[in-house]
Amino acid sequence: MNQKFTEKEVSPLSSMEEWEDDLLKRYPDPEESAKTKEEYRNYVDSERVDTVREFYRLNHTYQTYDFVKEKRADFLKFDKREMSLWEAVDFLNTLVDDSDPDTSLDQLQHLLQTSEAIRADGHPDWFVLTGFMHDMGKVLCLFGEPQWAVVGDTFPVGCQHSDKIVYPEFFAANPDSTDERYNTKYGIYEPNCGLDNVRMSWGHDEYLYQMMKDYLPEPALYMIRYHSFYSQHRENAYSHLMTEHDHKMFEWVNKFNPYDLYSKVPVPPDAKALRPYYEDLVAKYLPSTLKF
Ligand SMILES: [Fe+2]
Ligand SMILES: [Fe+2]
Repeated sequence: MNQKFTEKEVSPLSSMEEWEDDLLKRYPDPEESAKTKEEYRNYVDSERVDTVREFYRLNHTYQTYDFVKEKRADFLKFDKREMSLWEAVDFLNTLVDDSDPDTSLDQLQHLLQTSEAIRADGHPDWFVLTGFMHDMGKVLCLFGEPQWAVVGDTFPVGCQHSDKIVYPEFFAANPDSTDERYNTKYGIYEPNCGLDNVRMSWGHDEYLYQMMKDYLPEPALYMIRYHSFYSQHRENAYSHLMTEHDHKMFEWVNKFNPYDLYSKVPVPPDAKALRPYYEDLVAKYLPSTLKF
C-alpha cells in the first residue's frame, strides 16, 4: 500500500472531507453564486487536488471484485462491536481532525445539517432519519480500514469501469481491467439484471445499507446504498444494469444528493438541542443496539 497515504491515516477525516470538497468542485451547487464558486476554486489549492488524486489512484487500483468479496465476508458478519446509534455517533466523532479546526466540520454536524435541511423541507420522518445516519458507515475507518475502502465514489465491480467515473485512467492499474471475466460491458452480469444483483465497490454506503436493510423503507435504503454512486446518479453510466424499479428508486437517490452536498450552513446546528428529537426518531425505527 502506498506509503504517503498510510502516513496520512493518523487524521483520516481531514482526507474524507477533502473527498467531499472534491465532490462539491465536480458538482457545484447550481444555486450558488458565481462569486462563491470562484472563492471555492481558490480554496481548492493544488495540494488538496493532489491528495484527492492519490486517494482515487488507490481506490481505483485496489477495489477489485475479489477485494469487495473479501470485505463483505469480513464486515457483513457484523461481529466487530455492538453499540447504540448514539454510541456510534460519538465513536465516529472521535475521528475529528483537529489540525484544521476552521474547515473541519465534525461528522455529527454534517449529519445534522443534512437531516435538518431535509426536515425543513417537510419530508417524511424516515427521510430525515436517513439524512441523519447516511454516513454512519464511516465507522469502518475506526476498524482500521483505509480511507479508499470507506469513502469515495462507488462503482460496480465485475464489469467494465465506466469512463464517467472520476479519474477513470487510474483503473488501468486495477487487475480486473485486464481480466476478461470482468472487463466487458456486462462482465459477470446480465443486461438490466437489477442493482441488487450488482456488486458495488466496498465502502460506507453498502456497509450501512446491509446494517439497515430490515429497518427502513425501500427509498431510504436506496439513498443509503447508492448515495456515492455518482457515475450513475449524476452521469447515468450504468442504466444497462438497472431495472425500471431501480430507476424509480433513484429518483429518491437524486432527491437526497443535494442535501448531502449542499446543506452546509454558516451556523452549525445545535446538536444538544436537537438530540431529543433525533433520539425519538431513532427509537421509532431502530433497535436500541446495532451490530457493527
Ligand atoms: Fe457518504
Ligand atoms: Fe454525507
